[in-house]
Amino acid sequence: TLKIVTLGGGSGYTPELIDGFIRRYDELPVSQFWLVDIAAGEEKLKIVGALAQRMVKKAGLPMTVHLTTDREAALRNADFVTTQLRVGQQEARIHDEAIPLKYGVLGQETTGAGGFMKAQRTIPVLLDLCRDMERLCPDAWLINFTNPAGIVTEAIEKYSSIKTLGICSGANSMMMDIAKVYDVRREDVYARVMGLNHLIFADQIAVKGHDVTAEFIEKLAQGNGQNQLQNIPDTGLPPAFIRALGLYPLSYLKYFYLHREMVAHSVKDSQTHGTRGEQTREIERQLFELYKNPQLESKPKELESRGGAYYSDTACSIISAIYNNRQEIHVVNTLNRGATPDLDENSVVETNAMIDRQGAHPLAYGRLPVKIRGLIQSVKAFEELTIEAAVTGDYSTALMALSVHPLMPSVDIAEKILDEYLVVNRPFLPQY
Ligand code: G6P
Ligand code: MN
Repeated sequence: TLKIVTLGGGSGYTPELIDGFIRRYDELPVSQFWLVDIAAGEEKLKIVGALAQRMVKKAGLPMTVHLTTDREAALRNADFVTTQLRVGQQEARIHDEAIPLKYGVLGQETTGAGGFMKAQRTIPVLLDLCRDMERLCPDAWLINFTNPAGIVTEAIEKYSSIKTLGICSGANSMMMDIAKVYDVRREDVYARVMGLNHLIFADQIAVKGHDVTAEFIEKLAQGNGQNQLQNIPDTGLPPAFIRALGLYPLSYLKYFYLHREMVAHSVKDSQTHGTRGEQTREIERQLFELYKNPQLESKPKELESRGGAYYSDTACSIISAIYNNRQEIHVVNTLNRGATPDLDENSVVETNAMIDRQGAHPLAYGRLPVKIRGLIQSVKAFEELTIEAAVTGDYSTALMALSVHPLMPSVDIAEKILDEYLVVNRPFLPQY
């Protein structure tokens, strides 16, 4: 029997997760599912939790769904703890996005300044969770979906003894895009992935075991199969650039490669229908209206308008690979441990790894191609400083984190953004 605990249980994504566990009950016999949230999220927890209970009942499974704000009770004897929480809720995200945009700087949830700020709020909360886990369920796995997932995972690796993996819907979405182009099942696609969270590149793309990398890159150049996440504007990379790159980039890479267009797009968007955070707040509101309907007993189609659609495929298949000692290959955020010599051993990377009961064993990748090496290394420097700032609350470190990010145009703007961020985030920054 398995006890799963989800922090941020009141999230709109909960039906996605429950649906994943219901579909995989044969391999993951979950007997207790605990959805935990803080007092401020209790109303949402009750609504989405009741839907989760209806979903399980409909499936006729002997799984109990507990709703609670008592984190300690939930954690005791947990086997897997997953997190999908948002410190400061959508309001904080909206500030993360809107403040940089005022200065013409990218305002995005995880890339650049927004990711820095989200990490400052999130890392203390996740490390506090780890302290509780060390006491109450020291052998449990922490499967983290909370963004910025790569940065948060590295902080947990550095500052706790809890076993952890960071997950993202991104790599799976790339595989789904390839499968669509070739009209095959997702399982028929394999690709090698390397980079950092929301900064990955794929190559060695195989469909049913045949290498199609060159062919697929040409299709991409012709506008076919470009990675598309719901949360990222649908602007294509130039064909000549795609051919030159010769790798399949996650759509987040457009923030770097089409920087000016993407900032202009976000500015325009924020003036017309609001920042992505304002849009997702509205999507959430509508989702919760649906969730309230006592007739609803399944994950609604509307959830697909969120960027994290299908995230349970990633989460559940990785949990199953650990639980069943599957020795399968998945894309996870985990310590580099020499997968590439171009990053520190103790840096978290997003990579293919063999997953078994002991966790992730990253596959050897070798040197990062020079065309992507510098970008990955400089974003990693930003990540390291971001973690140090989040743990120490040191202003100078925070300023340096923002200043070294490749998308920060000048350091005086970094300072202005930081100062505004610190004011509006005051309630969430005990370390500063
Ligand atoms: C992608 C990322 C997730 C992120 C989501 C944002 O799927 O992989 O890490 O949370 O997009 O989507 P949203 O609908 O919140 O803008
Ligand atoms: Mn992600």
